[in-house]
Amino acid sequence: MRTDLFGDDGDSPCNPSTAPRFQTIVDQSCSRRGFLKMGLGMSAAIFLGGPAALKAARASTATASPLLGFKSIPTSIDDALHLPHGYSAQIFAPWGTPLLDNAPPWKPDATDDAAAQATQVGDNHDGMHFFALKGSHDEGLLVINHEYSTLTKVDYQWLFGRGGTLPWTADKALKAMNAHGVSVMHIKRLAEGQWEIVQESSYNRRITASTPMALTGPAAGNSLLKTSADPSGTRVLGTFNNCGNGWTPWGTYLACEENFNFYFGSTPPTSTPTTAQQRYGLPTDRSYFRWDDFNPRFNYAKEPNEPNRFGWIVEIDPFNPASAPKKRTALGRFAHENAAHTFTKDGRIVIYMGDDHRDDYLYKFVSRDRYIAGGDNSQLLDHGQLYVARFNADNPSKDFAGDGEWLLLDKSKNPILAAHPGFADQAEVLIYTRLAADAVGATPMDRPEWVSVHPQTGEVYVTLTNNNKRQKAGPANPRADNIYGQIVRWCEAGGDAGATAFEWDIFVLAGNPVKHTDRKDLRSGSDNITPDNMFNSPDGLAFDAFGRLWIQTDGKYSNSGDYEGQGNNQMLCANPASGEIRRFLVGPKECEITGLTFTPDHRTLFVNVQHPGETGNSNWPNGGNAIPRSATVIITKDDGGIIGT
Ligand code: FEO
Ligand code: CA
Ligand code: CA
Repeated sequence: MRTDLFGDDGDSPCNPSTAPRFQTIVDQSCSRRGFLKMGLGMSAAIFLGGPAALKAARASTATASPLLGFKSIPTSIDDALHLPHGYSAQIFAPWGTPLLDNAPPWKPDATDDAAAQATQVGDNHDGMHFFALKGSHDEGLLVINHEYSTLTKVDYQWLFGRGGTLPWTADKALKAMNAHGVSVMHIKRLAEGQWEIVQESSYNRRITASTPMALTGPAAGNSLLKTSADPSGTRVLGTFNNCGNGWTPWGTYLACEENFNFYFGSTPPTSTPTTAQQRYGLPTDRSYFRWDDFNPRFNYAKEPNEPNRFGWIVEIDPFNPASAPKKRTALGRFAHENAAHTFTKDGRIVIYMGDDHRDDYLYKFVSRDRYIAGGDNSQLLDHGQLYVARFNADNPSKDFAGDGEWLLLDKSKNPILAAHPGFADQAEVLIYTRLAADAVGATPMDRPEWVSVHPQTGEVYVTLTNNNKRQKAGPANPRADNIYGQIVRWCEAGGDAGATAFEWDIFVLAGNPVKHTDRKDLRSGSDNITPDNMFNSPDGLAFDAFGRLWIQTDGKYSNSGDYEGQGNNQMLCANPASGEIRRFLVGPKECEITGLTFTPDHRTLFVNVQHPGETGNSNWPNGGNAIPRSATVIITKDDGGIIGT
């Protein structure tokens, strides 16, 4: 414990007036071995507040806690969406829904062509945000990422109808490109309570893998971003594999480019990709998605810099349909999951970001300039400093907790990078962010997914989804061959998100206490994992305004072996103070649950069901023999109350 960070009274700087957790941690002197010998297993509650909190957390599993008011639901394996008693859902805007003025109705056999897809809602709904119009709870812009189209090599599972992938044609490649990107939907609640898209609204917009956009910030114009189509290195076509998202207080949306490498190929095969190309996972032969068969910019043997123009965070102004999206190079290039914002004490914006790749890193961007409410913040994400996290070893006086540092990725200010021959300037540090982070000694993590900031305490939480390649346990990543994942959290020094030091612990270790019954076995999970709430592979993560932590999974749904009893992918809700976790939603077969946002009053919740039936075993949401479709579900409480109460 670095008491200098927390003061003599041990209060958390994230919540100096109330938080007890660090005070009791100071007094908690169990070594890991002693701790486990006591037979308690590790407990999130111990991190939170020692034995008293542990008792409280256990009691709270029997009696309703004030924050979580719904009854946890059992897991399920059927082809249906399940919610707690007293909640209802509307299926909304499934893949192919007409969005633009000239959009044709979706064909139930999914044989719409590329031109139709460009006017319809895209596929594989992921991160999203509801931008209220004039503060309304009933009307706003729902912006949704369309991460990808389910496929097995060139056999896209559903995009061209059943068995419709071959022959592979230019129109199919273009349809796939048009199914990617982002939808901006003007939506409204009707008098009877159902939501609909406002047809002919000028806000409705499709952004695809072909939409013109700009590269901005320190790397824009760098020679590594120039191509034959864009000698300026500042103009790029499209965004894709937009996974999680972010949003800004000035009303823009952040679409995060994740596994961009799968879209690039090399024909003829490139036998010796550069170190950087290897580090970013570019294949040495044809691409996974096969757009390169018809569009030479995806062949990096011909356009070696085109892949450098992806892997960024893209800022979109949903209120200005004519505006070009901007790829903000100051935030670094990697497999971006989401982008969670908060502020430093002096009013600069901070964006937390995970790089979802095995043994990759956690980042934060701190802007140079202050946010001005109601002012011009259009350049805020172009100037600032990028940091990567190092988690130091467990503090010997505590289990699964320690301190850490934010390492500056600045060519002129970090001596390691200044002396490093691999980066000519700061632009190259940003284009090759992963290599710069390698050089400064960042901590390899178990695939960092979504980050979210507690709205009251300022604590920051990240899902580490799993890492079956991990050979050796490490700080904040305590299991080799980690098949279940965990949620790690930290508190910035002095309660200032601009700090370069932090204290971390583990909020939950997912696991299976039915399959691994010895609670000293880390695979059984932390004490806040029970046979009734267990899950694997936490991915989507977001606090609501009241401090409930919503957790979504993208894991194994075999319901057998190590995953026995865990059922389909799901959404849970946690009380961060007690550690209690309840299951709120279970999805249909072979889907991922991802993306969530609320109306401002928190009485309407939007959640995405992505790729139901990804290997062919779902007909959700239409049932019968219908082709399955990704869709949004709009959830309300039947008594009109706040979601989760
Ligand atoms: Fe697209 Fe890391 O989930
Ligand atoms: Ca995800
Ligand atoms: Ca995922």
